[in-house]
Amino acid sequence: MIEALKQLEQQAQQEASTLSDPGRLQETKLKYLGRKGLFASVSARIGEVSAQDKPLAGQEMNRVKRELERIFAEAERALSGPSSSSAAGVDVTMPGTFPPCGSLHPLTQVVREISSIFRGLGYSIADGPEVESEYYNFEALNIPLDHPARDGFDTFYLQDGKLLRSQTSTVQIRVMEKSRPPIKVIAPGRVFRPDATDATHSFVFHQLEGLFIDRGVSFAHLKGTLFTFAQSFFGPGTRIRFRPSFFPFTEPSAEMDIWSDKRGGWLEVLGSGMVHPNVLRKAGIDPEKYTGFAFGVGVERMAMMKYGVEDIRQFYENDVRFLRQFS
Ligand code: DAH
Repeated sequence: MIEALKQLEQQAQQEASTLSDPGRLQETKLKYLGRKGLFASVSARIGEVSAQDKPLAGQEMNRVKRELERIFAEAERALSGPSSSSAAGVDVTMPGTFPPCGSLHPLTQVVREISSIFRGLGYSIADGPEVESEYYNFEALNIPLDHPARDGFDTFYLQDGKLLRSQTSTVQIRVMEKSRPPIKVIAPGRVFRPDATDATHSFVFHQLEGLFIDRGVSFAHLKGTLFTFAQSFFGPGTRIRFRPSFFPFTEPSAEMDIWSDKRGGWLEVLGSGMVHPNVLRKAGIDPEKYTGFAFGVGVERMAMMKYGVEDIRQFYENDVRFLRQFS
């Protein structure tokens, strides 16, 4: 019987080493170790062994059983482990194939970056509708129907007397109507103008509006805030200057330029000013008690300056070769 056990062990060893298919391996394992398998039938012969030889035969039975289990466990590991895959021509240490993955649009990134700078200065984010009334786009902003300044902010009119907002300054009014000073908000969003498209114009683009109203807010606060913004966005040491300008909703008004070494000149980046008393009054805020400043940044323009983009249309064409540079 001991001989038969030893033979069984050898036979199993041989057979297991030739198997390459997990299904066949299970069958073979059952053939040896199953309840009616070869090991069971050889072991049954223990009854025929003399009392004297029994202890030795018992020991051998145990040893061979453990050995068979080890043989099949090892064969299973070999079939599911990495070395067998590489034998099958698959290198599991290779990087996987990644599903194509999008990233934030450069304009979204710029809006988020500007927003985070102003959040750091205590501003919260406000929002307003893109379909607006004439009141919010013009009248409340101190632009009467017959005022020539309307031309600069002209827009698309809808059939019901509504229009597509031509500036995010509309949100200033909506916020002032709803809340009391101190007010400190920015409002990023889409605006529309009937401009012919070229390298620097698009009939839809993005602005980011800012508004700060409180007691004693002065032009010095405006300058300090926008200086800090320019340093954070374009880098420390960025030179800025303010040029007198005109907007119906601010008095005085100024445009801010930043210096560009690359172009050897000043570039206009935003419009700003002290909120006009008429605007405060219309929105229900007493201009004798409160003052404030406002500004409006062109998001595309900021992105073009920061990243050296020459043509505004690249932001809208969805060419992944362009977009991938910002991922
Ligand atoms: N709304 C102006 C525009 O679209 C930009 C602007 C200028 C916004 C001055 C302001 C401001 O808030 O104070 O050109």
